[in-house]
Parts: sequence; structure tokens; C-alpha cells
Amino acid sequence: MKAIKIEKFGGPEVLELKDIEIGKPGPTEVLIKNLSIGLNYIDVYHRTGLYPIPLPSGIGLEACGIIEEIGSKVNLFKVGDRVSHASMPIGGYSEKQIMPQEKLVNVPDGVSDEIASCIVLKGMTAEYLLHRSYVAKKGDKVLFHAAAGGVGQILCQWANAIGCTVIGTVGSKEKEAIAKNNGCHHVINYTDNNFVKEVEKIVGKNGIDVVYDGVGAKTFEGSIECLKIRGMMVAFGNASGYVHTLDIKKHINTKGLFFTRPSIAHYTVTREELVESAKKVFDAVISKKIKIEISKKYSLEQAKNAHEDLEARKLIGPAVIIPS
Ligand SMILES: NC(=O)c1ccc[n+]([C@@H]2O[C@H](COP(=O)([O-])OP(=O)(O)OC[C@H]3O[C@@H](n4cnc5c(N)ncnc54)[C@H](OP(=O)(O)O)[C@@H]3O)[C@@H](O)[C@H]2O)c1
Repeated sequence: MKAIKIEKFGGPEVLELKDIEIGKPGPTEVLIKNLSIGLNYIDVYHRTGLYPIPLPSGIGLEACGIIEEIGSKVNLFKVGDRVSHASMPIGGYSEKQIMPQEKLVNVPDGVSDEIASCIVLKGMTAEYLLHRSYVAKKGDKVLFHAAAGGVGQILCQWANAIGCTVIGTVGSKEKEAIAKNNGCHHVINYTDNNFVKEVEKIVGKNGIDVVYDGVGAKTFEGSIECLKIRGMMVAFGNASGYVHTLDIKKHINTKGLFFTRPSIAHYTVTREELVESAKKVFDAVISKKIKIEISKKYSLEQAKNAHEDLEARKLIGPAVIIPS
């Protein structure tokens, strides 16, 4: 079967399409034929080594597929089940992959393969960010960076449905309308404007209850500035670079802020948490609380182009790789 492999960290050119032997699933594992694969910014961190992984390695953490074979002790799934997953072991960019059964969730009818392949990682991220890392409530003033992106579109729609006032930042004119159509009440183009000043015009100084910051280095200081006294900084990504240092006196103490740097892995620790989080996401999709539009489709051969587009900020929302 064909799969994307990396032998060294680097640019998109290190993504190589290879023919490999997949082997047999172990006793509690299943072999999945992937139907659609989710593209995520974390794939870039794995490829560059920002999040180091043992090499050589596959790549990709999100996919939807059909179970073709099960191990002798598998008791949660059967051959023919349609499943999704959003976690290690890494290797989603592939025609087939072997996964432990406890990492999988059933995909309900009414959710297409493509949506199921890009809603688990991004959707469960939005779920835990909004409902568990900080519990967003009606009336909260929420700031989300890169609001037209994959996680952004989902989270902003969901925050809007909760009744929050949603302020989203975007990097280009084209993305302004997309963020607006995906739940943002106010959109700020942070390439052309100082977002701190623009946020202040909307909610006043120190007016934001929670910032969800997946952009990192470029937005961190400004995000802190926008927060209210006892506000919550949820730093969950680093698309523009990692924030390595937190200065307690400067960043936290001045306003008595709360700070967290969560990962989806911290919120899907147990099987119950995983299944519950995925169910909330699928329910939100089926009830149309969240509407997903796939922004672009790639083949496995085009994985390099997909990463180039992702890093060039060309993608406007969830994108997928269709394996064959
Ligand atoms: N902690 C977790 O559990 C978790 C889980 C999933 C995702 N994440 C993080 O959430 C963020 C969004 O993920 P995603 O997969 O949905 O990606 P995405 O938002 O579709 O893409 C990243 C976006 O970041 C913005 N950006 C700002 N500065 C950038 C720069 N220098 N280089 C590249 N992009 C830049 C761009 O939007 P603009 O052009 O509008 O600025 C870009 O489209 C990522 O940081 C990701 O790592 C974290």
C-alpha cells in the first residue's frame, strides 16, 4: 500500500510517497482502509521536528476509514465498521493503517467520510477548548486567532451557538468573509491592523473573557493585553512560532490571569472522554450547529503541495487528502 513517509525533518520536500508492506493487526488492533484523511497544522510540526517524533515515520493524525481486518481480541469493533481517529500512532497519510481499537470512534450515519476525516481532531479540539479548558458561557467575549482556519471555523460557529460574542482575527481580506460566515460577530484583519486596538474598539480595554490562541509567537503578547482581569489565556498552538517563556510577573500577575497550554491528548485521556467528546462533535454536525465545508482536496501524491499551502496560509478551512 502507499503511504507518505519522512526520513528526516525538514520542508515539504521530505514528504515521500512510498510503497510499503502494512503487516497484520496485533490482538487488540484493527487494519483500516482509509477513505479520507484530515490535514492539520500539527502535521507541519511533526514534519519540521518542532514536535519531535522518532524517524523514519509516517505522518498524519486524523482519518476516516473502513475496518478491513481485526485482531483476535478486538471487542469494540467489527470488520466493515466505519471509524475515525485523531491520535497517535502517527501515519494517517496512507491508504491503510493499523490502529489500536481504543483510539477509534464509530462514525454515525449522516456524517460523510470526508467530514468525518476532518472533524475529529479539529472538532474535538474545539469541543474541549470551549467546554472544558475554559467553560464558555452565553455572553462571554471570546477572541479566536486564525478564525478562518480549520479549528477556527468550527470553534467560532460553536461559540456563536453557545451565545458568546465571537471576535476572530484573520490574515487576509479573503478570509474576512469566511470568518464572518463561520460564527464571528466581529472580524479583524491582523495583517493590516493592530488587533489589540481593534479589540478595544469592540469590547473596551481589558474586555475579553477568554483568548483561544493557536497562532502563538506573533499574537501571544497582544492576546494577554486584550484579556480582562481574571481572564483566561488558552494557548493551544504555534502556527507562527512557539511561545517558550511565560513571565509570571508580566503575563499573569498584572491581571490575575489564568493560563493553560492544553493539547487534545490531555482531554481524551480515557476512552470515555474520547467517545464523549467525539459524540458531542458528531451531534453538533448532525444537528447543523456546526456546518463544515471542505476547502480543498489533495491526493496522497500531493501531500507536499498540501503542506506548502498550509504553511503559506492559503487554506481556508478544513482540507483533506483522498488516498486513491
Ligand atoms: N493543542 C491542541 O489540542 C490542538 C489541536 C489541534 C490544533 N491545534 C493548533 O491549532 C492551530 C490551528 O490548527 P489548524 O490545523 O486548524 O490550522 P489552520 O488554522 O487551518 O492553519 C493555521 C493558520 O494560522 C494562521 N497563521 C498565523 N501566522 C502564521 C504563520 N506564520 N504561518 C502559518 N500560519 C499562520 C493562518 O491563518 P491567517 O492567515 O488567518 O493568520 C493559518 O491559516 C494550530 O496552531 C494547531 O497546531 C492545537
